[in-house]
Amino acid sequence: MTTYRIAPSILSADFARLGEEVRAVIAAGADWIHFDVMDNHYVPNLTFGPMVCQALKPHAKRPDGTPVPIDVHLMIQPVDALAGAFIDAGADLVSFHPDASTHVHRSVQAIKTRGARAGLVFNPATPLDALDWVIDDIDLILIMSVNPGFGGQSFIDSALRKIEQARRRIDACGKDIRLEVDGGIKADNIRRVADAGADTFVAGSAIFGQPDYRAVIDAMRAALASR
Ligand code: DX5
Ligand code: ZN
Repeated sequence: MTTYRIAPSILSADFARLGEEVRAVIAAGADWIHFDVMDNHYVPNLTFGPMVCQALKPHAKRPDGTPVPIDVHLMIQPVDALAGAFIDAGADLVSFHPDASTHVHRSVQAIKTRGARAGLVFNPATPLDALDWVIDDIDLILIMSVNPGFGGQSFIDSALRKIEQARRRIDACGKDIRLEVDGGIKADNIRRVADAGADTFVAGSAIFGQPDYRAVIDAMRAALASR
């Protein structure tokens, strides 16, 4: 039985009220909080740094006090220094684009040795080859179903084939690796993405663009349950 996770991206949240937004989306049923970190170098946009993660960490808690994982997606180059700073600021998972790191295996090691879970992120035209030599060391594979840099884009269908390929690789290696998809995820396409093999779903504009966060997350879960 697959455990599905909804990871709202705060990229589409109200940046003037981020603490409230994190609490609200957790109360609405979010499993992880997805942080889209952009440096205006690797991608043509600029978002937030470790200080925002540190400020939001106390808000990333369920009503009973249990922590909600902060899932940091680094769209930055270079990777290593800021990956460490985000872990110190409370990141639970740190994923990066292999094409943004000169030494991918070392970047994964740097994340793991600091006690966080490590992930690799693959852009729409990037093949999964980097997994050949690090799949045994990572905890997360993040497949981009839009080109990185902006929320509110449309889902790129070719990502479905890559998700299937990634699922086959995970099943073949037998490790407990999360397969996350990021970009253009809605209640009306999430089941197709799950059918391809994904278990964790980033959603920004689909959730934060709506007045009732719980209604959207419930609709996503209903679509996943109807498989
Ligand atoms: C792109 C971002 C977006 C975001 C999700 O760099 O990573 O994919 O998280 O945005 P939506 O859900 O609005 O497509
Ligand atoms: Zn992301």
